[in-house]
Amino acid sequence: GKIDKHIGDAIMALWSVDKTREDDAEQAIHAALAMQRELVNIREMHNLQLEIRIGINTGLVFFGTVGTIGELTAMGDTVNTASRLETSAPVGGILISHATYKLIKGIFDVVKQEPLSVKGKTEPLQVYLVKRARPHKFHPSTRGIEGIETHMVGRDAELEKLKAIFYTVSSKKETTLVSIVGEAGIGKSRLLSEFNNWLYVAPDLVCYFKGRATEQTTGTPYALLRGLFALRFQIKEDDSLPTVWKKFEDGVAEYLFEDSERKAHFLGAWLGYNFKDSPHLAVIHGDAQQLNDRGLLYLAQFFSAAAEKNTTIILLEDIHWADVPSLDAIVNVLKRQPQLPLLVLSLARPPFFESKPDWGENIPVYVQIDLHTLPIEQSYQLVEQILQKATSVPVTLHDLIVNQAEGNPFYAEELIKMLIDNGVIVTDEENWQINLDRLGALNVPPTLIEVLQARLDKLDPEDRVTLQRASVIGRIFWDRALVQLAADDFPETSKYLSNLQAKEFIFQRRSPAFTDTLEFTFKHAVLHNVTYESVLKRTRKLYHKQAAQWLVDVTEESDRQDEYAAAIAEHYSPGIMRLPTSPIQKLLICTVKHWHSRQ
Ligand SMILES: Nc1ncnc2c1ncn2[C@@H]1O[C@H](COP(=O)(O)OP(=O)(O)OP(=O)(O)O)[C@@H](O)[C@H]1O
Ligand SMILES: [Mg+2]
Repeated sequence: GKIDKHIGDAIMALWSVDKTREDDAEQAIHAALAMQRELVNIREMHNLQLEIRIGINTGLVFFGTVGTIGELTAMGDTVNTASRLETSAPVGGILISHATYKLIKGIFDVVKQEPLSVKGKTEPLQVYLVKRARPHKFHPSTRGIEGIETHMVGRDAELEKLKAIFYTVSSKKETTLVSIVGEAGIGKSRLLSEFNNWLYVAPDLVCYFKGRATEQTTGTPYALLRGLFALRFQIKEDDSLPTVWKKFEDGVAEYLFEDSERKAHFLGAWLGYNFKDSPHLAVIHGDAQQLNDRGLLYLAQFFSAAAEKNTTIILLEDIHWADVPSLDAIVNVLKRQPQLPLLVLSLARPPFFESKPDWGENIPVYVQIDLHTLPIEQSYQLVEQILQKATSVPVTLHDLIVNQAEGNPFYAEELIKMLIDNGVIVTDEENWQINLDRLGALNVPPTLIEVLQARLDKLDPEDRVTLQRASVIGRIFWDRALVQLAADDFPETSKYLSNLQAKEFIFQRRSPAFTDTLEFTFKHAVLHNVTYESVLKRTRKLYHKQAAQWLVDVTEESDRQDEYAAAIAEHYSPGIMRLPTSPIQKLLICTVKHWHSRQ
């Protein structure tokens, strides 16, 4: 995070300022817990009576310059509520809003509090007190809706393929690397979790090593491997140094019998643990190259020894965030040992291959399993599963979720959660009720915004602005319209469009509606929505006007005004087309047609 400002004796800090990360809310709470811990030390050290309260909220803020010195700060309802949470928190406590809670559910232990009434708000706010981070356990990190268990829908072929690979690896002793690849929320972790369940009851004994990369540690060398060993050897963050040494020595000795203490120390030191005072390391006099060579060697020896005992699976989740040295080390192990019952199973989102195009090359056996969006019948099945407690689900609601989610299970879950939040779906232990009257415009849920915003933030500025301009034209847009919006500042619009295509933000459509244009579509309605929301309101208005003008001109050329009157109306009054029965909408279309015919 970033410290925004000091107000009296308070500090205001912000996350997601320069760059959004999927775990910003989690990081904010970790920071809050760390502050409380540190305060204990400060109190002891300086013999002070000092206490702090912390309030955390999540939402959109206005970010701009204020005051006589033009200081840059965040303002608005989200900030005011955060401040209210802080003043209401008990001394020494961390109070969070429901919006924040939704993003960290399951990661921290929290206690639900009495709702808090806040000036200017009609309904009291649901708030929670954070107690502690939950201990680090490994289960594939799928998301889901609390209290609802779904069967895996589809993916039979993929699961069978994984089982077959497992049998081949163990019977033929072929070192194998598998990548399960698919966009966020498509079901990589879910597939893996089903495979895990199967392994659990399968007759074969396996050695299992699991590591998960996170956005936080992409730049930290060996973070992925260190996490893998920490989990396997049960090393905790707050273990004392002697305990860490002992756990490392015992863990390594489980497979490497000869000289295991020395190897453990090298391996540990190489991965970044503190083995500075180890007598074994004295021989290399701190030479990094030697440490690296031995680290790699002992890592390979360790996994070979494990594989000689039982078929060994190394599971690497979310390698799109993995640090490069860890990945290189794994590849090194695979290449050194082509004939082992060793299976490395990695999960990645497609952008991973932009930075690691050679992943899988020159590995004894490499298999890639691509996960695509669910076909429409399976999407219906999935929604049915999630809404299993609702006695009758209106077809309109079913259609709405399936259409918006477009085959992405995570999107479907999030949209349903949003409908629950908006009171369209009223949940109960047993029976869920549907309240269609409360269905207004469908907003994008906060979790999805985080995931997609994080992707947008990673784009080069020109690509991003091009995408933002396109989003104002619509889910479907045309290159010539974009050029009009870009005026002269982006002469290379087509280059940016190819970049965006390569990164799978957009696709080109066959048979464009207008001559001499290329027609594109956003990959996903929700992505379109989030991109649109990221355009400043003032700028949006200008782009809308230009887009409308372009449509007016081009439809006149092709004599298709009627077809596009609604689209033009939408540009004059964005959002209006989402309200299907709106009389204003009809009026607007008429006005546009009328105005257009008079031009
Ligand atoms: N085939 C499926 N049947 C039922 N539920 C599914 C299916 N695929 C995914 N889900 C559910 O959708 C949610 C998202 O899936 P999952 O977490 O596996 O996505 P992911 O591909 O691992 O995404 P990320 O890249 O963000 O880690 C989870 O709650 C998961 O249980
Ligand atoms: Mg996952």
